[in-house]
Amino acid sequence: MKLSLSWKWVIASLLIESLMLTLMVIKNVEQLEENLSTQTNIRLDEQKILLKSALVAPLVQMDYATINSILEETKKISTIDYLVVVDNQNNCISTMGWSDCSNLPPKELNPFTENSLKDERFDTNIPITLFSQSLGKVYLGLSTKFYIQAKKEMITRSIIIALIELILSAILLITVSKWIIKNLVKLTHSANAIAHGDYSQRINLGDSKETFELQESFNLMAKNIEKNIVELKHLNKKEKKLFNKLKSQIEKNHEQDILLKHQSRMAIIGEMLNNIAHQWRQPLNAITVQMSSLKLRKELNLIEDQEIEKTSDSVMKYANYLSSTIDDFRDYISDDTSKREYFSIETSLNKALDIVLASLKNNHIELNIVKSDSDLLVDGVINELNQVFINIFNNSKDVLNENNIEEKVIEVRFLKEDDKIIITIQDNAGGIKDDIIDKIFDPYFTTKHKSQGTGIGLYMSAKIIQEHYSGEILVKNENIEFNDKTYTGAKFFIILPI
Ligand SMILES: Nc1ncnc2c1ncn2[C@@H]1O[C@H](COP(=O)(O)OP(=O)(O)O)[C@@H](O)[C@H]1O
Ligand SMILES: [Mg+2]
Repeated sequence: MKLSLSWKWVIASLLIESLMLTLMVIKNVEQLEENLSTQTNIRLDEQKILLKSALVAPLVQMDYATINSILEETKKISTIDYLVVVDNQNNCISTMGWSDCSNLPPKELNPFTENSLKDERFDTNIPITLFSQSLGKVYLGLSTKFYIQAKKEMITRSIIIALIELILSAILLITVSKWIIKNLVKLTHSANAIAHGDYSQRINLGDSKETFELQESFNLMAKNIEKNIVELKHLNKKEKKLFNKLKSQIEKNHEQDILLKHQSRMAIIGEMLNNIAHQWRQPLNAITVQMSSLKLRKELNLIEDQEIEKTSDSVMKYANYLSSTIDDFRDYISDDTSKREYFSIETSLNKALDIVLASLKNNHIELNIVKSDSDLLVDGVINELNQVFINIFNNSKDVLNENNIEEKVIEVRFLKEDDKIIITIQDNAGGIKDDIIDKIFDPYFTTKHKSQGTGIGLYMSAKIIQEHYSGEILVKNENIEFNDKTYTGAKFFIILPI
C-alpha cells in the first residue's frame, strides 16, 4: 500500500522533532549536572575553609569537646551525611554519622562520578594543617540524593513537555498537511481531467496568497491549453479541407493528364495522316501515270507482254513502298512506351525522318544535319524521342510555310559535353515573338487555326524530355546563315543527361 504524502510528511516531521527533543533533554541533564557540580564544589570549598579554621585550634589543644560540638553543628546541614575527624596518626577523634572508624572511605574526585551516585554519597576529606604541619583530617560525606532526585524530576518533566509538544505538533502537522494536500488533490483532479480532454476545467484553491497564485497560473495554463486546442482543431479542419481540395485537384490533374495524352495521340495521328499523304503522293502519282499509260497503249493495241511485266513490277515496287511506310507509321503510333533501351540518337532521328522527310521535301525544305563524331547513346523509349523530333520538325515546317520563306532550311546539330548530350534544331522561319516565347510549352497554347493546331505538341515533348529523360528542353531565337543570307529562327535545345 502506498503511504499518502501527508502521512509521510507528518511522520518525518515528528521523527525529526522527537530527535531534537531527545537531544534537548540530554543537553539539559548535562547542563544540570554541570551546574550542580559547580555549586556543590563551591559549597564544599566554603565548608572546607570553615571547618579548617574552626578545627585548627581545638585540634592543637586536643579539645575534643569543642571538636564534637563543631561536628554536631556542621552535621545539621541537611546535605552532610557524615563527619569524622582524625589526628595526624589517623586515630579517630570524633565521628558524626559514621560508625566504623577503622574503615574510612577513600577520597572521590567528583560528586557525580558513577561511584558517588551508586551509594548516593560523595566522599571527600580535608587535611587540617598549621604552618604546613599536618594536624589531622576531616572526613565528610555529602549526600547526592538531591541531585538524583532533581535529575529524575527533570527527565520526567522534560518527557511530559516533549509528549505534549509532539501531540500538539502532530495535530498541527496533520491539519496543515491535510489543507495542503487537499489543494494538491484538487490540482491533480483538474490536471487529470484536462489530460482526458476536458479542457474547460478550472480550480478554486481558496484565497490564501500562495494558493491563489497557484490557482491563477493553473487556470491560465488551462485556458491557454483550451485556446490552443480550439485553434489546433480549427487548423486541423482547415488542413483536412485543404488536403481534400488538393486530393481532388490531383485527381483532376490526373484526369487532365489522361485527356491530354489522348488528345496528343489524336494530334499525332492527325499529323501522321498529313505526313502519309505527303509520302504517298509521289508513288501514287507514279502508279496512276504508269497504269494510265498502260491502259492507253492497250486501247491503241500497242502493248507488248514485256511491257505489262515491266509495269506490273514497277507498280509492285511502289505498292511495297506504300506498305512499308504504313508499317513505319504503325510502329510510330503504337502505344508501347514501356520498352526502355539504350539507343543511338541518330537512329531516333532517322526514324523520325522516315516519317517527316517526304513532307519536308514536298514543302522544299532543306534539311542540314551536322553529325557528332561519336555515337551518342541514351537510355529511354525510342518512340518517345522520335515523337519529340517529329513535333519540332512539323512546327518548323508549319511556320516556314506560314511565313512564306523562300529558301527554307532546318539545321540539326549534335553536341556532346562532359555529362550531357545537346541536340539543337533550328529553322530560318523568323523566330517566336517575345510575348509568347514563354508560353509555347504550355498545354493547349497554339497560334494556329483550330483545324491546324492543338497546342499539345511542345507540351508533350517537354513532358517526355523532363519526366522520361530527366533532361530539359529550351528555345531561343538565334541568327542562322543559309545560302549566304542571315535569317532569324527559333532554335530548340534538347539537353539529355548521360
Ligand atoms: N519553330 C517555331 N517557330 C516559331 N514558332 C513556333 C515554332 N515552333 C512552335 N512555335 C509556336 O509554338 C506554338 C505551340 O506549338 P505546339 O505545341 O507544337 O502546338 P501547335 O503546333 O499545335 O500549335 C505554335 O502554335 C507556334 O506558335
Ligand atoms: Mg505542333
